[in-house]
Amino acid sequence: MNRPHIICHMVMSIDGKVTGDFLFQPECVGATEIYYRLNRELNADGFICGRVTMESSFTAGWYPNLADYEFRSDRVDKKEDYIVDDLSGFYAVAFDTHGKLGWKSNKIVDTDGDPGYDGAQIIEVLSEQVDDRYLAYLEAEKISYIFAGESSIDVKLALSKLKSIFGCKTLLLEGGSIINGSFERADAVDELSLVVAPIVADKDSKPLFMDSAISKYELVKAENENGNLILNYKRVKY
Ligand SMILES: NC(=O)c1ccc[n+]([C@@H]2O[C@H](COP(=O)([O-])OP(=O)(O)OC[C@H]3O[C@@H](n4cnc5c(N)ncnc54)[C@H](OP(=O)(O)O)[C@@H]3O)[C@@H](O)[C@H]2O)c1
Repeated sequence: MNRPHIICHMVMSIDGKVTGDFLFQPECVGATEIYYRLNRELNADGFICGRVTMESSFTAGWYPNLADYEFRSDRVDKKEDYIVDDLSGFYAVAFDTHGKLGWKSNKIVDTDGDPGYDGAQIIEVLSEQVDDRYLAYLEAEKISYIFAGESSIDVKLALSKLKSIFGCKTLLLEGGSIINGSFERADAVDELSLVVAPIVADKDSKPLFMDSAISKYELVKAENENGNLILNYKRVKY
């Protein structure tokens, strides 16, 4: 396979939702702890999130002042991938079409959160719509970036680069609903790792896969841990 094995790892409500207020109810605390533990036990090379999830979980809306950056004129092809020298450890892969995420360093800082994320090395996946000054900012912060499409991100192209350039063999797809749906439609979800919390979501919550297509999975494991259901499914290929 010319792309990493993708495990979609999510906390889910009983009614199959993955975003919204239900995640912050006491009934979700146990499921979230199990989710973080599994995040580490799955032993992947990193995790992928959509721009909205990265913003809500890690960057908190901070953005650099692009007026402080100018793109280097010595770069012949401005839409060339930029890869830092010291590639190491666990990757945090941000699907960020227009370069909207502001990182204060090239690693995730999550000391109050779960150790499974802190220190993960950031990779920005971009479309060619990005402002050149944003690229200069990423280079100043030594954040690797790759291009994977002209106006939107082509999931298959992004994944093939994540394997060929960074050597990623297995990546966790960790939401939210929009990016998960995009991977599922691209036939790029190989496994599901779901932690179902004992709660139903409200009408504003979004499903596991936004705008999904029919796809089939085989149940591999189902376990009850303190009232939370741990489910593992393998994608059935036709
Ligand atoms: N239950 C869980 O385990 C779990 C895990 C993670 C997150 N979440 C929740 O999910 C929420 C956010 O989910 P969401 O569905 O609104 O957004 P999302 O999937 O996190 O992000 C979607 C955004 O990703 C960018 N993107 C880049 N390439 C894409 C592609 N090929 N396909 C689709 N999107 C692409 C787009 O950003 P642009 O708009 O900039 O183009 C798009 O709007 C968070 O608030 C969090 O609470 C839950």
